[in-house]
Amino acid sequence: MLLRSIPGLLLLALISFSAHQRTDCAKILAIFPFPGPSQYICVQAYLKALAGRGHEVTVVSAYPQKKPLPNFRDISLEEVLNGYEETIVDVITQERNKWQELNLYYDFFTGGTLSVLKSANVQKLLQSDEHFDLVIVEALQMDAVYAFAHHYKAPIIGISTYGTDPTIDELVGNTSPISYIPLPLSELSDRMSFWQRLENLWHHLLHQLHMHFIYLPNQVAIYKEYFPNGTADILALRKSFSLVLLNQHFSISFPRPYVPNAIEVAGMHISQKPNQLPAVMEGFINASKAGAIFFSLGSNVKSKNLSKEKIDIILRVFASLPYNVLWKFEATDLPNKPQNVYIDKWFPQSDVLAHPNVKLFISHAGLLSTTEAIHHAKPLVGMPVFFDQFLNMKRIKHAGIGVSVNYKSFTYDELRGAILEVLNQPKYTQNIQQMSQLYHDRPMKPLDKAIFWTEYVLRHEGAAHMRVAAQGLNFIQYHSLDTIAVFIVGVVLAVILPVWAIYGIVSGMVMRDSGGAKLKHS
Ligand SMILES: *[C@@H]1O[C@H](CO)[C@@H](O)[C@H](O)[C@H]1NC(C)=O
Ligand SMILES: *[C@@H]1O[C@H](CO)[C@@H](O)[C@H](O)[C@H]1NC(C)=O
Ligand SMILES: *[C@@H]1O[C@H](CO)[C@@H](O)[C@H](O)[C@H]1NC(C)=O
Repeated sequence: MLLRSIPGLLLLALISFSAHQRTDCAKILAIFPFPGPSQYICVQAYLKALAGRGHEVTVVSAYPQKKPLPNFRDISLEEVLNGYEETIVDVITQERNKWQELNLYYDFFTGGTLSVLKSANVQKLLQSDEHFDLVIVEALQMDAVYAFAHHYKAPIIGISTYGTDPTIDELVGNTSPISYIPLPLSELSDRMSFWQRLENLWHHLLHQLHMHFIYLPNQVAIYKEYFPNGTADILALRKSFSLVLLNQHFSISFPRPYVPNAIEVAGMHISQKPNQLPAVMEGFINASKAGAIFFSLGSNVKSKNLSKEKIDIILRVFASLPYNVLWKFEATDLPNKPQNVYIDKWFPQSDVLAHPNVKLFISHAGLLSTTEAIHHAKPLVGMPVFFDQFLNMKRIKHAGIGVSVNYKSFTYDELRGAILEVLNQPKYTQNIQQMSQLYHDRPMKPLDKAIFWTEYVLRHEGAAHMRVAAQGLNFIQYHSLDTIAVFIVGVVLAVILPVWAIYGIVSGMVMRDSGGAKLKHS
């Protein structure tokens, strides 16, 4: 018995050996300065997994670990959280045109860049003789921060918490044809009408203008200020990424082309094995015979800051339902809270959604939440508030896995109707179960994939062989403008000139003939 299984064991050992080639432990510097909690949630499991595999990970972020972790060192940027809540309220309540929107992101990215470079602890790190083998950054327009890779002569990996866009494309020479790839913050889909394609082109041009005339000159100036002796070419750095990891997957968005070093890893933040829920929470979910509902507006929008009228409507709707509701509510007291509502300021969201008795997720439709809903096959009632949430909501509706409620103006009947629609019509659950199957059907779990390609870059010292040659071409060469111009001139010379010449000869003969005729007449 044992003897017979030995070849099998050997084979297994061989397979796992080739799947996990040894990578020397590396020193990794990860920089995630943005104050939005979901941006850090997106990468935390990945950074911890790298530390778990023996790499020494140093993380610059606003969210240092509460308990020390082996191989994991935090450099805290907690100061970026000051004023963040007010910024979010301003973003939600102010109307902006496209250019003002670009300016808003510009302020945000400039703030993120400066918070890293101004940090005393980061400066201490830069002045020390500590070395890093790899730099990982959030790929969000912080070019002066990309200079860390130049400083340490290390390869650089970008992580995008949404997917790709023309800015992220540039890092690896990816291409997003504007005819069928909408900008992520527009609400367009991959199938656009003529006018929508025109809109996409217009937004794309605005984006490029803002990037090259406002954003990049500013980043170059920041770089010169904080690296006075630096010799990095910022404009070249943004074309020399080894890898970008994209929090996206075609099963939840749409199919599109990628270069070999742009890798989809949506869902890498979700643990494959749900954790045990706290007993009180699970008891409350179990106690609801008809099933339970989970309601969360995410980490940016605070439920406690909803207007009194809205809270009142929500509570009346929940009280009228035969379901227990768990609500992420950030204050401890909620007057008139009905018996069937359970509040807490934090929930292990993915573990709650994993519970079989949870039947519906009322969500702000952020990308991480939407991905978790699809992961656990729970249909949605969406209440998008800002940024990409409207786009996600559009996709949710299009896929038939949920319905939306207007966050600004919902009424009792609208909210109650939406909840009952999704719970009483089996099609929403069936659709999301089907989508969930497609999402899970991959050769490799997303976190394993992210780790594999990260270590691949380490093993092959930046993996320059994966970079497309586009990175060495200028705008004219990349778009073949030079060759097209020569080609057109060639066509003109080869076809039009002879025609013109023949025409000239023929008309010359005609002129002579008619001239002769005239002569005869006179
Ligand atoms: C830049 O170089 C000068 C002269 O070599 C040196 O005195 C100065 O300390 C350097 N500055 C930094 C920030 O490294
Ligand atoms: C909830 O129900 C599940 C399955 O029905 C059971 O395994 C679990 O122990 C229950 N938990 C509590 C806290 O009642
Ligand atoms: C949200 O509500 C709390 C009180 O619960 C208040 O202290 C805080 O200022 C409010 N935040 C905003 C941004 O309105």
